[in-house]
Amino acid sequence: WMVIARQIRTGGGLLPQRYELVSTNANQQPNRTCDTDASDHAIGSNQIQIDVNGALDQQGACTSGRQHDETNSLYGTPKEELAPGSSEVKASFMRNQLEALFQPSDNKLAMKLFGSKKALMNERQRQKAAGHWVIHPCSNFRFYWDLCMLTLLVANLIVLPVAISFFNDDLSARWIAFNCLSDTIFLLDIVVNFRTGIMNQDNSEQVILEPKEIAHHYIRSWFFLDLVSSIPLDYIFLIFIQDYQDVNTYLQAGRALRILRFAKMLSLLRLLRLSRLVRYVNQWEEVYFLNMASVFMKIINLICMMLLIGHWSGCLQFLVPMLQGFPNNSWVAINDLTKKDWFEQYSWALFKAMSHMLCIGYGRFPPQSVTDMWLTLLSMISGATCYALFLGHTTNLIQSLDSSRRHYREKLKQVEEYMAYRKLPRDLRQRIADYFEHRYQGKFFNEDDILNELSERLHEDVVNYNCRSLVASVPFFANADPDFVSDVVTKLKYEVYQPGDLIIKEGTIGTKMYFIQEGIVDIVTASGEVATSLSDGSYFGEICLLTNARRVASVRAETYCNLFSLSVEHFNTVLDQYPLVRRTMESIAAERLNKIGIDPSIVVSQHSDGDLLKVDMSTVEVLLSHDNAVINKEDFDDDRPEGFLKT
Ligand code: CMP
Repeated sequence: WMVIARQIRTGGGLLPQRYELVSTNANQQPNRTCDTDASDHAIGSNQIQIDVNGALDQQGACTSGRQHDETNSLYGTPKEELAPGSSEVKASFMRNQLEALFQPSDNKLAMKLFGSKKALMNERQRQKAAGHWVIHPCSNFRFYWDLCMLTLLVANLIVLPVAISFFNDDLSARWIAFNCLSDTIFLLDIVVNFRTGIMNQDNSEQVILEPKEIAHHYIRSWFFLDLVSSIPLDYIFLIFIQDYQDVNTYLQAGRALRILRFAKMLSLLRLLRLSRLVRYVNQWEEVYFLNMASVFMKIINLICMMLLIGHWSGCLQFLVPMLQGFPNNSWVAINDLTKKDWFEQYSWALFKAMSHMLCIGYGRFPPQSVTDMWLTLLSMISGATCYALFLGHTTNLIQSLDSSRRHYREKLKQVEEYMAYRKLPRDLRQRIADYFEHRYQGKFFNEDDILNELSERLHEDVVNYNCRSLVASVPFFANADPDFVSDVVTKLKYEVYQPGDLIIKEGTIGTKMYFIQEGIVDIVTASGEVATSLSDGSYFGEICLLTNARRVASVRAETYCNLFSLSVEHFNTVLDQYPLVRRTMESIAAERLNKIGIDPSIVVSQHSDGDLLKVDMSTVEVLLSHDNAVINKEDFDDDRPEGFLKT
């Protein structure tokens, strides 16, 4: 009460600005200060509570996201001083460690799910607030647990079928110990699953952390399959039979054998663990290997799965005749393998299974007995299914590897069909085919679509990068203000012309100007003479845009020309912002017009500053040198340092 009164008196309101927290908590730093006004508090509510002892407590004000527990108190006075090393401190330490292990850590899965560290903090708080001992699916514990389970599952699914089919030491201590240990771990996995939060598959992004809901969800989905594959049904069965045998001492030896065989079949139920493997692999693939070509991962998965099914099929090939007591017409007896070493038996069994599965043959001998035949049929069907899936995925992968090339071929095919449909003349068809080849060079991208998907910044950066060779080769850009260059290049459009194409026709109204990235164009005057040629780095078609008049000359492509065009709207927008560039262009235009015998005043007359154009002389010089124009010193006004062109 005194604290509150003091705060009110000093005008600080009910909440002190800074509290000093002393923590005896082993994994929190002592004397950490918590700013109660900080906007990014994980909990955000700065409530003051007064507990039964009258001590002032602040709820969840630490930026670390940890709730303020009973060992923390305000103003450096813990409610109860705990001696270091006391059992309570140790217990609290252990508790915190465990809690940290079960909370979401900033791993890839968590980042994918929550997107930011702040959201992750909130999730930690949410889990803490829920108050149950629930393992978060993004926690470190779950990660390492899944890793262990994956390893154990793979070992189990490989070793179990071999042991069941080729070894008769089902009741040996070693085997029982192995089975008991792995069964216990799988049963533990069920318990862990009951306490692991569930990532909601439907639209809500929240992780289910309510134990009841988790249990409900798990029981409805995989629980029974997991349970059946984890309970040692074979041993339970044998224990029951043992009791029965004590009562019925007359049990026949043959019957005991049958019991053992039945127990063997029950132990096959452990192979249902495959479902768990598929689940865990899928989950890992989604989180950790999503960036790798997913089809590629699918193929690797499929190959592993095929090998596993081949392995199982091989074991089954041997198990069935063994359970029948190796009849004379079984393949094991025919191959004289009944008394051979297990590895030799396994090798032949695998060879036989693989022969069926890959539709190559029947192994050493074709099936003789009906059972053998059915087994062969089974492995043929499973093999053919795997084979079909494998082929499908591989084709998909090969196609996706070079989708732009495929796209190009499809496009070309369509164009060919179109040309045939329209019955275009042969030379036109050839020109179209050449155009396609030159323009797309074997790869077709929907560049506009791709660039429009990007953010504005990325879009600009990519375009700037793509136009780097143009910017370097066009002196107009190389000497210009970088902002101007950036403004222009994002508005350029790539175009390709073939030798002989009339890019500009004299006397028409122009809507764009061009920059030459590569190629040579001829400037053809009204009389049909070639006034000059322009090549890489030059530009043309600007006079019409500057004067709003008609094209003063024709422009014809001499070679293949890779050009970038700028539309009149963009031209005006950009040049309005950079008047100096407009003037530079105008002075070049005047020079060009002069050269073809047209009065240059049509470009300069529009300016209010009379007969003088203020331009960057060095740029004009470089640009004109590109037109092969001879620049006479007397064309410039020597008295002005910036380079004033006489008109
Ligand atoms: P425009 O009139 O829009 O279209 C024809 C283009 O040819 C013209 O713009 C100039 O860019 C270009 N041009 C005309 N005369 C010359 C010249 N003497 N040297 C270089 N280019 C020219």
